[in-house]
Amino acid sequence: MDAWTGIKRTHMCGEITEDMAGKEVVLTGWVHSRRDHGGLIFIDLRDRTGIIQLVFSPDVNEEAFAKADRVRSEYVVAAVGEVRRRDEDKVNPKIATGRVEVYVHRLLILNRAKTPPFYIEEDIDVDENVRLHYRYLDLRRPDMQRNLLLRHRVTKAIRDFLDSKGFWEIETPILTRSTPEGARDYLVPSRVHPGKFYALPQSPQLFKQVLMVAGVDRYFQIARCFRDEDLRADRQPEFTQVDLEMSFVERDDILDLMEEMLAVAFRVGMGVEIARPFPRLSYQEAMDRYGSDKPDLRYGLELIEMTDVFRNSQFKVFGEVARGGGIIKAINAKGCAHFSRKDIDDLTRFVANYGAKGLAYIVVGEGELKSPILKFFSEEEKEEVLRRTEAQPGDIIFFGADRPEVVYASLGALRQELARRQNLVRPDDLQFVWVVDFPLLEHDDEEKRWVAIHHPFTAPKEEDIPLLDTDPGRVRSQAYDLVLNGVELGGGSIRIHRRDLQEKIFSLLGLGEEDIREKFGFLVEAFEYGAPPHGGIAFGLDRMIMLMAGRETIRDVIPFPKTQSAADLMTRAPSEVTKRQLAELHIKLDIAARKKSGEN
Ligand code: AMO
Ligand code: AMP
Repeated sequence: MDAWTGIKRTHMCGEITEDMAGKEVVLTGWVHSRRDHGGLIFIDLRDRTGIIQLVFSPDVNEEAFAKADRVRSEYVVAAVGEVRRRDEDKVNPKIATGRVEVYVHRLLILNRAKTPPFYIEEDIDVDENVRLHYRYLDLRRPDMQRNLLLRHRVTKAIRDFLDSKGFWEIETPILTRSTPEGARDYLVPSRVHPGKFYALPQSPQLFKQVLMVAGVDRYFQIARCFRDEDLRADRQPEFTQVDLEMSFVERDDILDLMEEMLAVAFRVGMGVEIARPFPRLSYQEAMDRYGSDKPDLRYGLELIEMTDVFRNSQFKVFGEVARGGGIIKAINAKGCAHFSRKDIDDLTRFVANYGAKGLAYIVVGEGELKSPILKFFSEEEKEEVLRRTEAQPGDIIFFGADRPEVVYASLGALRQELARRQNLVRPDDLQFVWVVDFPLLEHDDEEKRWVAIHHPFTAPKEEDIPLLDTDPGRVRSQAYDLVLNGVELGGGSIRIHRRDLQEKIFSLLGLGEEDIREKFGFLVEAFEYGAPPHGGIAFGLDRMIMLMAGRETIRDVIPFPKTQSAADLMTRAPSEVTKRQLAELHIKLDIAARKKSGEN
């Protein structure tokens, strides 16, 4: 092995160009591959900028040639050599530096490496658990390096944008109290206060509101958040928000500024100009037309209202639902008439996962309709269905009839499934939409009380305030979500800043004095000292980068993510701790110990 001393790198591997021919360069990096052609040895040297071909010949330098024979994949080396143009027939169009190579006269082996468990290259087909265990090798791969760089660039662009708009970046505590997002908390036991715990923040929500009371006016933070919830492709137990809050603004001020910010982020991240202003859908319209409050607007396949058509229907399934307070919706699956019996059975099973009891359908042929349920339909019903769905020969009309939640969930999912099967999604299409006017409250029938849909500080729409006394379920909030291609990218609201209104909401939520003091005492107290009108929003940075990078999971854009079971396979967290640490923290593990030994 050679010493790393007295050597200065002159270039990165990817920087070598034709016009440097004849120059001496000093390069460093990892051995990507080595090929022995008898009299010549070729090494592809790799760093984060790319790959360059090194050539070793005994005619150039005997010692370097002999050393090149000993290197293996992923050895760390430094090479001093001369840039040469390749002959036309030796040009490698697959790499950016493919028109040149470096004839090496001095090679330093700086470190050896074990044979890696997978190839350090793009698009490997390797179990993700292996990638996560050897994350440092996984992150050496070009696509992962691109994701790291993309994240850096976009985060910096967002920081610069917000700075230019007068936002201050302010850190808020990680060891804190429960926040109101409603997931399970991660808790940290206190050594100094036996039996007490900190909670890791689910978001900086309460602090950013306190900062508005503190006169900060415009705050932002690239904030780490912690939520102990069921994990999915776009959910991690710790994730990052672009979190911000503004004083003396109304909803549309925030939405307009955020569109401007996203335009910058997507310009830097993807080199595209996104169309503005973004469309806005009310929550109700999103549910009615797409069955989802995060609709994917890259394709049609909208849900079409049919309840009134079947109010007096002879078809029992529909008639009973329509008369019994349920709803009936249809989707025109354009050009899907070729679906086989088996396809339809598959789709019926698919919607059953969302609670649907069946999937009635009509196949629209040339001058004829085919369906087992047609015999129950009246002529008027048939005509109205065809009129509303604008069905043409070659289409299938699917129906969902049930409680609204079931119809929304099942047909909303069917929409996505049909789009997938019919390849309706263009990969580079970006469809942003604001979903606004969410209901403020939702009734928890089990606990017999109202719960806040966003959080308890979200303001109701001014014109709906009187409904708080008469019909709380119909009150709409000043909350908004930003959805991109069916993914919820961000959410926020205008907050309540008046004490009387806040007290009214707390009482609807069934929160007593005691609860309030316990949960949010400091915020309520702060509000007594002059809270300005304010509001804000938070974006899921991981999700944003995932969509920019065209990835399916946020794990690919988080350097050190956790698995579905919230484990870190590289560090092996979470881990057991010593008896002594537990004793210091005043913790006894007898429940865990009993569970392990099979007692309960
Ligand atoms: P909310 O809970 O909607 O709002 O979160 C904002 C955004 O954060 C992202 N997100 C997640 N990303 C990855 N993994 C998770 N587990 C996860 N959970 C949420 C989503 C989401 O849209 N304090 C409020 C914001 C406000 O009112 O200003 C909040 O946290 O993209
Ligand atoms: P049945 O009368 O139960 O045999 O159903 C006749 C047709 O209606 C079948 O194609 C079922 O899949 C469909 N169907 C049954 N219940 C529902 C429902 N709740 N929503 C939509 N279609 C249904």
